[in-house]
Amino acid sequence: MTATKQSGSAAPSDEIRFILDGEVISLRGIDPNTTVLNYLRETLRRTGTKEGCAEGDCGACTVVVGELDGDRVRFRAINSCIQFVPTLDGKQLFTVESLRAPDGSLHPVQEAMVECHGSQCGFCTPGFVMSLFAMYKSEPEPDRARINDILAGNLCRCTGYRPILDAAERMYRLASNGNGGGADRPYAASDAAQPSAAERAMTERLRAIQRTGRLALTGPDLSGGQRTYYAPTTVADLADLVETHPDAHILAGGTDIGLWVTKSHMDLDAIIYLGNVEELKVLEVDDSHIEIGAAVTITDAHELIGEHFPDMGEMYRRFASPPIRNAATIGGNVANGSPIGDSMPGLIALGASLVLRRGAKTRELPLDEFYLAYQKTALEAGEFLERVRLPLAPADRHFRTYKITKRFDQDISAVCGAYSFRLEENRLRDVRICYGGMAAIPQRASQCETALEGKPWNDSTLAAGMEALDRDYAPIEDMRASVEYRRLVTRNLLRKLFLETSGWPGETRVLEHPNRQGQGART
Ligand SMILES: Cc1cc2nc3c(=O)[nH]c(=O)nc-3n(C[C@H](O)[C@H](O)[C@H](O)COP(=O)(O)OP(=O)(O)OC[C@H]3O[C@@H](n4cnc5c(N)ncnc54)[C@H](O)[C@@H]3O)c2cc1C
Ligand code: FES
Ligand code: FES
Repeated sequence: MTATKQSGSAAPSDEIRFILDGEVISLRGIDPNTTVLNYLRETLRRTGTKEGCAEGDCGACTVVVGELDGDRVRFRAINSCIQFVPTLDGKQLFTVESLRAPDGSLHPVQEAMVECHGSQCGFCTPGFVMSLFAMYKSEPEPDRARINDILAGNLCRCTGYRPILDAAERMYRLASNGNGGGADRPYAASDAAQPSAAERAMTERLRAIQRTGRLALTGPDLSGGQRTYYAPTTVADLADLVETHPDAHILAGGTDIGLWVTKSHMDLDAIIYLGNVEELKVLEVDDSHIEIGAAVTITDAHELIGEHFPDMGEMYRRFASPPIRNAATIGGNVANGSPIGDSMPGLIALGASLVLRRGAKTRELPLDEFYLAYQKTALEAGEFLERVRLPLAPADRHFRTYKITKRFDQDISAVCGAYSFRLEENRLRDVRICYGGMAAIPQRASQCETALEGKPWNDSTLAAGMEALDRDYAPIEDMRASVEYRRLVTRNLLRKLFLETSGWPGETRVLEHPNRQGQGART
């Protein structure tokens, strides 16, 4: 592998270019399976970034990535332990070492952590600092609940979280007092109206390293063989690559795939990365649908989907953690086909469909026909998921989705249920129910749907529906839940739906979680 520092001139297509501390790093011949964390620690010897779990759970490895977003730079925290180095191409990387000012003074985030005693053994501290740095750069005045959400992916075993939360509030006051937060500071807090001179300079540097053509890397594997990594910039080129290399792994956010390397020690000999294809980042709403490109991140989809379907918004707020959501895509969640993936029950209940593409041809398939068996989908060789089409619900549609986990934040579902129906003179119509965690695939509860369809929404229909659920599923026992628990929860979620939507005194919310935000009880 060769690495050089250069100013941003045009580069050959086998060269990764990203910015670190203001300088363009240019890399060739790196193993495409190298994680950003390993590159930082083992090659650059930047050991501030720590490894705790190597699976996206603990946040010790959090770094921040700056990406062009029109005329501005968007700063987002990600987990470096499960991101591959080539995905940094065209971006700016910030590590905890980046924050110190040229005169050696601390950044307000670091200073606040010191003042508030936010660190003891210090192992988690760089990760917290970087999550807070991303927040400092993107959100002017978050309240305590929002700070809690932002830090959901950072675990600390020493301090307790209160001093860290105090630091999160304190850093804004330090900045406004002029302690290192002024406009001349390289990484001052973002001002939505006026980018600082430093941010304008950063934008120009990022522009200089954007590429129009395909990145095609070859790098050595551990046994002297070769690995390839392609990053096309157009959907047509992506389609061509996927068709020509049907065995290559399609890489989106890497929050599933990264673990295949760090935990399952798989060798990914050929990768096609779709994160540089702008056409796959479309997120639009028209009169009838929300169109979601496969490469739209959960973070980006969250707000628009949540606006139309508040329960989906709440579910996405509890999907993993902000650094995972900043990388993970809707397309990756759907295509991965995990029976406990959180998007699918809601999307299936709402009647979403998928646009699949092979070469220049596309076909549309209802999402509930996409999953064939455990981790087996209807995707054919050379085909990929281009976008998800989510129909807008009629005004009288009731929709709920409930996620059941052991922890409130940053936990994968034991069971996730989603329900959609209309009431016509108190009779249930167009009932669609789907559960995750109850079968080898996200699966509709067809017997329960039949038991409810056309019936009055009352106690006896509820009882029939609960009984039908037992026939719909034969759940498994695993570390998340026993068979009995899954059966009971599934029934009880239907009861919760009934209590919330059966009309007395209008819609309501049952058992509000104290941490639930933005959508209080509906009456
Ligand atoms: C700590 C942690 C917490 C998590 N918590 C949750 C959670 O709460 N809820 C949840 O649902 N998931 C969770 N996940 C799983 C994961 O984040 C999601 O499944 C995520 O949406 C995957 O998207 P990705 O872009 O990272 O996919 P990748 O890892 O890049 O890819 C996943 C799979 O999809 C395929 N793929 C990706 N895009 C396409 C495409 N366009 N066409 C065809 N195939 C494609 C890939 O080839 C691969 O097989 C968690 C993961 C971690 C590490
Ligand atoms: S090392 Fe734990 S999230 Fe990366
Ligand atoms: S300070 Fe020790 S783990 Fe957080």
